[in-house]
Amino acid sequence: MIIAIDGPTASGKGTLSKKLAAHFGLPHLDTGLLYRAVGRQVIVNGGDPDHPEQALEAVAFPDALLDDPVLRNEATGSLASRASVHPAVRQALFERQRAFALQDGGAVLDGRDIGTVIAPDADVKLFITASVASRAVRRFKEMEAKGVSITLAEIEADLERRDARDTGRKDAPLMAAPDAVTIDTSELGIEDAFAAALAAVEAATG
Ligand code: DC
Repeated sequence: MIIAIDGPTASGKGTLSKKLAAHFGLPHLDTGLLYRAVGRQVIVNGGDPDHPEQALEAVAFPDALLDDPVLRNEATGSLASRASVHPAVRQALFERQRAFALQDGGAVLDGRDIGTVIAPDADVKLFITASVASRAVRRFKEMEAKGVSITLAEIEADLERRDARDTGRKDAPLMAAPDAVTIDTSELGIEDAFAAALAAVEAATG
């Protein structure tokens, strides 16, 4: 069984993906991490994520980078979003994601284009969304807990910039696949969102 999960940043898709993977005993790939590694590697190389060739060179990041906590920073998320605009970067990361999706027994993948490009043949497609306001509050609480000093307004502005870039790009923009089930988590706690996701998986797979 392949479960494809897409949605914008801070929608709750990461948490839901992990919970679904644990529930069904499936391996999980957070594909955003691959783009974050590219965004980070561009900087390590002294390059510019907006430059198509420099972004493409960074696809050769070392696997150890995937465990570096720096990938979790907001700044790295923005670099990833910028690097992910280039079709050659997306193409270069395709095989790795596709192979993960096709492994024996199935998999859970989350990102922006899983249901549309990486696994259009997925058994279940979920599109996890939430209002900018509720996503910003969630992100704000995470930052506060980490002791990062940032205002709610700055977080909202960053989320909106990232949404605009991810949905507005020409190649594989963030969007719900036509056959995806959309779950709006604005008003849902984690357990209710998980129950909704589980119900959607069970409805799709019988
Ligand atoms: O999910 P995330 O915040 O870790 O993703 C970081 C950026 O990577 C996101 O803003 C756009 C890009 N991305 C993408 O283009 N396609 C994916 N499947 C996953 C992430």
